[in-house]
Amino acid sequence: MTKGSSTSKALAIALRGAAEYDAATSLLELHDFDLVFAGSVPPDEYPPDVLRMRQAIRESQGIILATPEYHGSLTGALKNMLDLMSIDDFETKIIGLVGIAGGHVGAIHSLNTMPRHHFWNCTTSILFLPGAFHLTNIRLT
Ligand SMILES: Cc1cc2nc3c(=O)[nH]c(=O)nc-3n(C[C@H](O)[C@H](O)[C@H](O)COP(=O)(O)O)c2cc1C
Repeated sequence: MTKGSSTSKALAIALRGAAEYDAATSLLELHDFDLVFAGSVPPDEYPPDVLRMRQAIRESQGIILATPEYHGSLTGALKNMLDLMSIDDFETKIIGLVGIAGGHVGAIHSLNTMPRHHFWNCTTSILFLPGAFHLTNIRLT
Protein backbone atom coordinates (compact mmCIF):
# COMPACT_ATOMS: atom_id res chain seq x y z
CA MET A 1 0.00 0.00 0.00
CA THR A 2 1.67 3.21 -1.11
CA LYS A 3 1.18 6.49 0.74
CA GLY A 4 -1.84 8.37 -0.63
CA SER A 5 -3.14 5.29 -2.47
CA SER A 6 -6.84 4.51 -2.80
CA THR A 7 -6.44 1.75 -0.24
CA SER A 8 -4.77 4.07 2.22
CA LYS A 9 -7.54 6.64 1.74
CA ALA A 10 -10.31 4.07 2.17
CA LEU A 11 -8.69 2.79 5.33
CA ALA A 12 -8.30 6.31 6.70
CA ILE A 13 -12.02 6.93 6.08
CA ALA A 14 -12.94 3.67 7.83
CA LEU A 15 -10.75 4.59 10.80
CA ARG A 16 -12.29 8.04 10.92
CA GLY A 17 -15.70 6.37 11.14
CA ALA A 18 -14.48 4.21 14.02
CA ALA A 19 -13.10 7.30 15.78
CA GLU A 20 -16.54 8.92 15.54
CA TYR A 21 -17.66 6.11 17.86
CA ASP A 22 -14.84 7.02 20.28
CA ALA A 23 -12.53 4.21 19.23
CA ALA A 24 -8.83 5.00 19.62
CA THR A 25 -7.39 4.22 16.21
CA SER A 26 -4.02 4.01 14.51
CA LEU A 27 -3.20 3.36 10.88
CA LEU A 28 -0.39 0.87 10.29
CA GLU A 29 1.14 0.70 6.82
CA LEU A 30 3.03 -2.44 5.86
CA HIS A 31 5.80 -0.49 4.17
CA ASP A 32 6.69 0.96 7.58
CA PHE A 33 7.47 -2.54 8.87
CA ASP A 34 10.68 -4.43 8.17
CA LEU A 35 9.21 -7.92 7.81
CA VAL A 36 10.74 -11.11 6.42
CA PHE A 37 9.24 -13.62 4.03
CA ALA A 38 7.29 -16.14 6.07
CA GLY A 39 9.23 -19.40 6.22
CA SER A 40 12.57 -17.81 5.27
CA VAL A 41 13.85 -17.76 8.85
CA PRO A 42 12.79 -19.61 12.01
CA PRO A 43 10.43 -17.67 14.30
CA ASP A 44 13.16 -17.05 16.90
CA GLU A 45 15.06 -15.09 14.21
CA TYR A 46 12.17 -12.85 13.23
CA PRO A 47 13.13 -9.16 13.13
CA PRO A 48 11.67 -6.88 15.83
CA ASP A 49 9.05 -5.49 13.45
CA VAL A 50 7.32 -8.87 13.24
CA LEU A 51 6.88 -8.72 17.00
CA ARG A 52 5.86 -5.04 16.77
CA MET A 53 3.09 -5.99 14.33
CA ARG A 54 2.03 -8.93 16.47
CA GLN A 55 1.89 -6.73 19.57
CA ALA A 56 -0.21 -4.10 17.77
CA ILE A 57 -2.69 -6.78 16.69
CA ARG A 58 -2.83 -8.40 20.11
CA GLU A 59 -3.40 -5.08 21.89
CA SER A 60 -6.29 -4.08 19.62
CA GLN A 61 -9.95 -4.91 20.08
CA GLY A 62 -10.70 -4.57 16.41
CA ILE A 63 -8.72 -4.57 13.18
CA ILE A 64 -9.58 -3.26 9.73
CA LEU A 65 -7.48 -4.93 7.04
CA ALA A 66 -7.45 -3.11 3.71
CA THR A 67 -6.03 -4.42 0.47
CA PRO A 68 -6.09 -3.54 -3.19
CA GLU A 69 -6.97 -6.40 -5.48
CA TYR A 70 -3.90 -7.75 -7.27
CA HIS A 71 -4.59 -10.42 -9.88
CA GLY A 72 -7.74 -11.66 -8.20
CA SER A 73 -6.23 -11.77 -4.74
CA LEU A 74 -5.08 -9.77 -1.76
CA THR A 75 -1.57 -8.38 -2.08
CA GLY A 76 1.39 -10.65 -1.47
CA ALA A 77 2.62 -8.20 1.18
CA LEU A 78 -0.56 -8.52 3.24
CA LYS A 79 -0.68 -12.29 2.78
CA ASN A 80 2.92 -12.52 3.95
CA MET A 81 2.18 -10.40 7.03
CA LEU A 82 -0.77 -12.65 7.90
CA ASP A 83 1.42 -15.72 7.37
CA LEU A 84 3.87 -14.30 9.92
CA MET A 85 1.10 -13.93 12.52
CA SER A 86 -0.61 -16.74 14.37
CA ILE A 87 -4.29 -17.52 14.63
CA ASP A 88 -4.09 -16.75 18.37
CA ASP A 89 -3.11 -13.14 17.60
CA PHE A 90 -6.56 -12.55 16.09
CA GLU A 91 -8.67 -14.48 18.56
CA THR A 92 -11.94 -12.73 19.56
CA LYS A 93 -11.15 -9.56 17.55
CA ILE A 94 -13.71 -7.62 15.58
CA ILE A 95 -12.40 -7.74 12.00
CA GLY A 96 -13.27 -5.40 9.14
CA LEU A 97 -12.10 -6.20 5.63
CA VAL A 98 -11.86 -3.47 3.01
CA GLY A 99 -11.07 -4.43 -0.59
CA ILE A 100 -10.21 -1.93 -3.32
CA ALA A 101 -10.24 -2.88 -6.99
CA GLY A 102 -9.89 -1.16 -10.32
CA GLY A 103 -12.57 -3.39 -11.81
CA HIS A 104 -16.26 -3.37 -10.97
CA VAL A 105 -16.40 -6.69 -9.11
CA GLY A 106 -12.75 -7.33 -8.34
CA ALA A 107 -12.47 -6.76 -4.61
CA ILE A 108 -14.84 -9.65 -3.99
CA HIS A 109 -12.11 -11.96 -5.26
CA SER A 110 -9.37 -10.41 -3.16
CA LEU A 111 -11.33 -10.64 0.07
CA ASN A 112 -12.56 -14.14 -0.70
CA THR A 113 -8.92 -15.23 -0.85
CA MET A 114 -8.16 -13.65 2.52
CA PRO A 115 -6.84 -16.42 4.78
CA ARG A 116 -9.98 -16.62 6.87
CA HIS A 117 -8.65 -19.31 9.17
CA HIS A 118 -7.00 -16.44 11.08
CA PHE A 119 -10.46 -15.08 11.77
CA TRP A 120 -12.35 -18.25 12.71
CA ASN A 121 -13.10 -16.87 16.18
CA CYS A 122 -13.78 -13.27 15.15
CA THR A 123 -16.71 -11.09 14.19
CA THR A 124 -16.10 -10.07 10.59
CA SER A 125 -17.66 -7.50 8.30
CA ILE A 126 -16.68 -6.80 4.71
CA LEU A 127 -16.72 -3.74 2.46
CA PHE A 128 -15.98 -3.96 -1.27
CA LEU A 129 -14.99 -0.79 -3.12
CA PRO A 130 -14.95 -1.41 -6.87
CA GLY A 131 -13.94 1.21 -9.43
CA ALA A 132 -11.14 2.51 -7.20
CA PHE A 133 -10.40 5.39 -9.56
CA HIS A 134 -13.36 7.19 -7.92
CA LEU A 135 -11.35 7.37 -4.71
CA THR A 136 -8.43 9.20 -6.26
CA ASN A 137 -10.35 12.49 -6.07
CA ILE A 138 -11.09 12.20 -2.38
CA ARG A 139 -9.14 14.63 -0.23
CA LEU A 140 -8.73 13.91 3.44
CA THR A 141 -8.58 17.08 5.46
C1 LIG B 1 -0.22 -5.77 -9.97
C2 LIG B 1 -1.66 -5.31 -10.05
C3 LIG B 1 -2.67 -6.22 -10.23
C4 LIG B 1 -4.02 -5.80 -10.29
N1 LIG B 1 -5.00 -6.74 -10.40
C5 LIG B 1 -6.31 -6.33 -10.40
C6 LIG B 1 -7.35 -7.29 -10.50
O1 LIG B 1 -7.14 -8.48 -10.55
N2 LIG B 1 -8.64 -6.84 -10.47
C7 LIG B 1 -8.96 -5.50 -10.40
O2 LIG B 1 -10.12 -5.16 -10.37
N3 LIG B 1 -7.98 -4.57 -10.31
C8 LIG B 1 -6.66 -4.96 -10.31
N4 LIG B 1 -5.66 -4.03 -10.21
C9 LIG B 1 -6.04 -2.62 -10.05
C10 LIG B 1 -5.96 -2.21 -8.59
O3 LIG B 1 -6.79 -3.02 -7.77
C11 LIG B 1 -6.41 -0.77 -8.46
O4 LIG B 1 -5.59 0.04 -9.28
C12 LIG B 1 -6.33 -0.27 -7.04
O5 LIG B 1 -6.78 1.06 -7.05
C13 LIG B 1 -4.91 -0.31 -6.50
O6 LIG B 1 -4.95 0.13 -5.17
P1 LIG B 1 -4.16 1.43 -4.70
O7 LIG B 1 -4.76 2.60 -5.44
O8 LIG B 1 -4.40 1.49 -3.23
O9 LIG B 1 -2.71 1.21 -5.04
C14 LIG B 1 -4.32 -4.43 -10.17
C15 LIG B 1 -3.28 -3.50 -10.01
C16 LIG B 1 -1.97 -3.93 -9.96
C17 LIG B 1 -0.86 -2.90 -9.78
